[in-house]
Amino acid sequence: MANSNVRPESMERITTKALADAFIEEQVKEVRAQVGDKKVLLALSGGVDSSVVAALLIKAIGKQLVCVHVNHGLMRKGESEQVIEVFKNGLDANLIYIDATDRFLDLLKGVSDPEKKRKIIGGEFIKVFDEEASKLDDISFLAQGTIYPDILESDGVKAHHNVGGLPEDMEMELVEPVKLLYKDEVRVVGEALGLPHEMVYRQPFPGPGLGVRCLGAITRDRLEALREADAVLREEFDKNGLAGKVWQYFIAIPDMTAVGVIDGKRLDGWCAIIRAVNTTDAMTATIEEIPYALLHHITARITSEVKGISRVLMDITPKPVGTIEFE
Ligand code: XMP
Repeated sequence: MANSNVRPESMERITTKALADAFIEEQVKEVRAQVGDKKVLLALSGGVDSSVVAALLIKAIGKQLVCVHVNHGLMRKGESEQVIEVFKNGLDANLIYIDATDRFLDLLKGVSDPEKKRKIIGGEFIKVFDEEASKLDDISFLAQGTIYPDILESDGVKAHHNVGGLPEDMEMELVEPVKLLYKDEVRVVGEALGLPHEMVYRQPFPGPGLGVRCLGAITRDRLEALREADAVLREEFDKNGLAGKVWQYFIAIPDMTAVGVIDGKRLDGWCAIIRAVNTTDAMTATIEEIPYALLHHITARITSEVKGISRVLMDITPKPVGTIEFE
């Protein structure tokens, strides 16, 4: 099974902890047989797939796994901290943390074209990861969080994003323990491995992160406002039981200002746009109805707690015609 890219028809869908435990046990054996006493490198973003692969490989080979977490400065609030907490402090992982915020934000300065932004972020990610990899001795394997839909739909939604890949010229054998699993199965395996529920069931987050939600040319202050406003939205969705019901929800902030009044003074502030959608495959999406009282509350919190935001708007455009992200 290790080298096959075809899921056998006989393979049972992993829906329970018992089935997940059996899968984990089998993969632990396979990974140990594949890797022996060699070292394995993994880019650990904190997303579901790479996190589950990390936890599985830590179980199989412990410190022979070297995880590299690159913080590109476009993470959501608390995300890198959670990766460190769960993997370094919780699972005693061999984790290298790189704060590359300045490198990414300096390169992105003044760049407003969305595809250029994506290319810069993707290209720089590979560079940083490559640099780190070249400092390490005797790495023979590269682990990846490939899942079955990636194999089936290599022309699908993910293909046009052109970020998140790893250096093609890295001459390392791949270790892809969840490549025959569907997303729901990866989550069941993640929970069986003891990863936190909110990490395993988190909403999708694009590789270029907040970079494609801080619209147009990114500035540090608007990016910071976006990160804070997004944290408020996520906290309120969590508290009000929407986190499990809405597929993807976030804030985007366009590169424009609108006048507001704070303490009797005029303020040229930014507009925080709420987007909350439901979908099954991200190819089409519907708009989730959010109770007005909650929207009022979120608006009050964002405008009072987040510096520089003068109003909150809601995007009610389904896909089509609006894509889920804004750029
Ligand atoms: P769109 O905006 O194309 O988004 O309707 C569909 C899904 O893909 C995610 N998305 C991305 N994911 N890199 C990614 O890894 C990207 O550049 C990217 N752009 C969009 C989006 O969040 C949604 O879930």
